[in-house]
Amino acid sequence: MRLYLIGAGVIARTHASAASRLDEEVELHVADLSASALDAFMSEHPRATPHGSAEEMLAETPARDDDVVIVATPPAAHRAPALAALRSGRNVLCEKPFAMNSAEAEEIVHAAERSGRLLGVCSTRFRGLPHTQAVKSVLASGVLGEVYAMSFVTRWARSRAGIEYQPQSRWFLDSSRSGGGVLMDWGPYDVSTLFDLLDPVRIEVRDAWVARPITGADPVDAVFDVETDTGAALRVTRADGTVLPVSFGRATGTHGTERAHAELFGTRGSVHWTPFDSHKPVFLRSDAGGVIEEREVEAPPRSEVTILERPLVAFVDALRGRPSAAVLGAAALAEFRVLRAIYRAARTGVVQTIEVPR
Ligand SMILES: NC(=O)c1ccc[n+]([C@@H]2O[C@H](COP(=O)([O-])OP(=O)(O)OC[C@H]3O[C@@H](n4cnc5c(N)ncnc54)[C@H](O)[C@@H]3O)[C@@H](O)[C@H]2O)c1
Repeated sequence: MRLYLIGAGVIARTHASAASRLDEEVELHVADLSASALDAFMSEHPRATPHGSAEEMLAETPARDDDVVIVATPPAAHRAPALAALRSGRNVLCEKPFAMNSAEAEEIVHAAERSGRLLGVCSTRFRGLPHTQAVKSVLASGVLGEVYAMSFVTRWARSRAGIEYQPQSRWFLDSSRSGGGVLMDWGPYDVSTLFDLLDPVRIEVRDAWVARPITGADPVDAVFDVETDTGAALRVTRADGTVLPVSFGRATGTHGTERAHAELFGTRGSVHWTPFDSHKPVFLRSDAGGVIEEREVEAPPRSEVTILERPLVAFVDALRGRPSAAVLGAAALAEFRVLRAIYRAARTGVVQTIEVPR
């Protein structure tokens, strides 16, 4: 198959490495407007064919049914290349967040539907990890009794993209280029994981906030107008009709204490784990004759495919008709709408409701 990368930056290199995980020959093309980014990419992946622009790359030869284009540019440069790639007749896998706002996301998903090509998003990166599967099996077993609440929190004190993480990519800090802060950067993984765990048909954002705590390391030479700490009270209606309040939190910059903890509370037990870290165990807590009992839940084995490589592998599985963790089309749009609903709820104080198509 042919793989076309638009953007030759940090994440594009991981997609190029992911190509070696596919059980087929891959012809690799890459386009970037920056000659130095292309040079750096080519020194790591010398077999790729470099192009000075996405337009030139896509126009070079007619599309084939299984061509895959990965849009790996900053978010403000997702829409145009994604639409151009679909128009050229190719399948598109778009980096997260896949759009700047819901209108753009709808436009891209509808363009994919009209083109008959596959559209996937990279929010799938942490989906279906072994520890998430272990939690799902606990949930499905009924051992928790009636599940009545959930907490899902990952807060790091100093891990801001564009400052402590990847400081050369200042665009992360500028909402006109990134679409937002930690909610657009890490939120896609949070929401995708919640969808994976809970199988929702409706999500209400009942209350939300976004904040940008001030530090001595804040850049003075760049636009920095995005949130680095956020939280929301969600109300999730699951496909089985049950309703679950979820307390959600996420930070890459906070004066609060660091915490990475998820927990589902039931009348007969609880299960707790560390989101996004499948090296850490999952624990089941229950009661044995009035005494608290805690035991580790066995998780399936970890895969050789790294987190960063997973989106391409899942997308090609979907393209080839194999079972896949890919997040595609309407599902991608529903996930994205939840993120924007959190911003709207924070801004307006009005409850936001997102219906999730089946
Ligand atoms: N860096 C990470 O760890 C990481 C992880 C997961 C997802 N992502 C996502 O991947 C995307 C890219 O992030 P990154 O870290 O690779 O950024 P980056 O700053 O390292 O690279 C972006 C590249 O895109 C190029 N570019 C910009 N506009 C272009 C256009 N119109 N056509 C062609 N090239 C263009 C830039 O010249 C630059 O080389 C973002 O959506 C980000 O959220 C990044």
